[in-house]
Amino acid sequence: MAPSGRLAPRMGMIGASPTAAISDTVRTLAASGVTVDNLGEGELDFETPAPIAEAGIAAIRAGLTKYTAVAGTTGLKDAIRAYFRQRNGLDFAQNEVIASCGAKQIIFNAFLATLDAGDEVIVPTPCWVSYPDMIRLAGGTPVLVPCHASNGWKLAPEDLAAAITPRTRWVILNSPNNPTGAVYPAAELGALCDVIAPHDNVMIMADDIYEAIVFDTTFATPAALRPALASRILTINGVSKSFSMTGWRLGYAGGPSWLIAALDTLQSQSTSNPSSISQDAARAALSGGVGFLDEWLPILRRRRAIVMDMVRTTPGLDAVLPEGAFYVFADVSGCLNRTTPSGQVLRTDVDFATYMLEAARVALVPGSAFRAPGHVRIAFGVDTDVLAACCARMHTACMALQ
Ligand SMILES: Cc1ncc(COP(=O)(O)O)c(C=O)c1O
Repeated sequence: MAPSGRLAPRMGMIGASPTAAISDTVRTLAASGVTVDNLGEGELDFETPAPIAEAGIAAIRAGLTKYTAVAGTTGLKDAIRAYFRQRNGLDFAQNEVIASCGAKQIIFNAFLATLDAGDEVIVPTPCWVSYPDMIRLAGGTPVLVPCHASNGWKLAPEDLAAAITPRTRWVILNSPNNPTGAVYPAAELGALCDVIAPHDNVMIMADDIYEAIVFDTTFATPAALRPALASRILTINGVSKSFSMTGWRLGYAGGPSWLIAALDTLQSQSTSNPSSISQDAARAALSGGVGFLDEWLPILRRRRAIVMDMVRTTPGLDAVLPEGAFYVFADVSGCLNRTTPSGQVLRTDVDFATYMLEAARVALVPGSAFRAPGHVRIAFGVDTDVLAACCARMHTACMALQ
């Protein structure tokens, strides 16, 4: 504990990321000899594709180890622009793109650059754990708008319309979604854009970080669907998920030049450029194509089926089939208020996740971390055999509830 008065009051507004806390618990258990399989991590188990890793090594050997332009090298920015053009049909100029230390830094800085006290950000829930805390840190107010499993976990246009006020500055649209895996088809995403369109002061934050991991629906992004709104859209992506490069910390965005310039300024006074080595690896990734996904997506599809089969055959569990990303967001409410073999009554999703840790040695993230109590997020970015064994143990643990 810090001595009282040593920490700024803003630290009282936020907590540590719950997903990082789960991973810490798993590492602590591993250090004490207890093996737990971690289905809580938001990353793929695949190696970063070899040509990309080699590009990073080559960058070190070539001496690309110095400061670069804050917003990224010209080579990387050109690769980002070409990727946006080819994959998403979006055209950005050099001064309309920026590279940062993960999409996370872009999202945080975008809020810091634009929010004033009392400004509101509409966050459809369930949502990625960091949005509300980032908004609060930047002085804004998160306005949580629930989405429902009965609507495929997608935001209903009428609920969005009802949440917009004169203080609304941003609407976050995250498709494919973490934690639900929901993917908005073009028509549904376009309908949400049309609700936002008449509100000139409202911007769209399109968090497209899972863009390449889509199973059943065609990916769509707001700026491509509604070019007339492009000056009010920040399109965010990165190499973390699509290229299995979470540790390289490289995210990027395209948007209006005034906003990109502000992100550049914030970055220049905080972290400066993202790692020069990661930039060169990301340049290789973005310009090398996503051919490896032909191998990855069928594996992920198989894993999704393994988790969904377990959910469907386990009384007390239920889930909507995720159309993208690598998470199953399972409703565990049918297991609550039941008793474990050791006599404990499971009251909450946190109790359920703790029981899974103890009885099935599987780490999951409780839904309350995503603002959806009564659920758990099951990440399937782990080895297929390990995943199948985890699912079998989870099934057994659920069946043991009285
Ligand atoms: C929805 C969403 N947005 C953004 C991020 C941040 O990604 P990164 O900072 O690794 O690029 C994540 C990571 O889990 C995420 O799930």
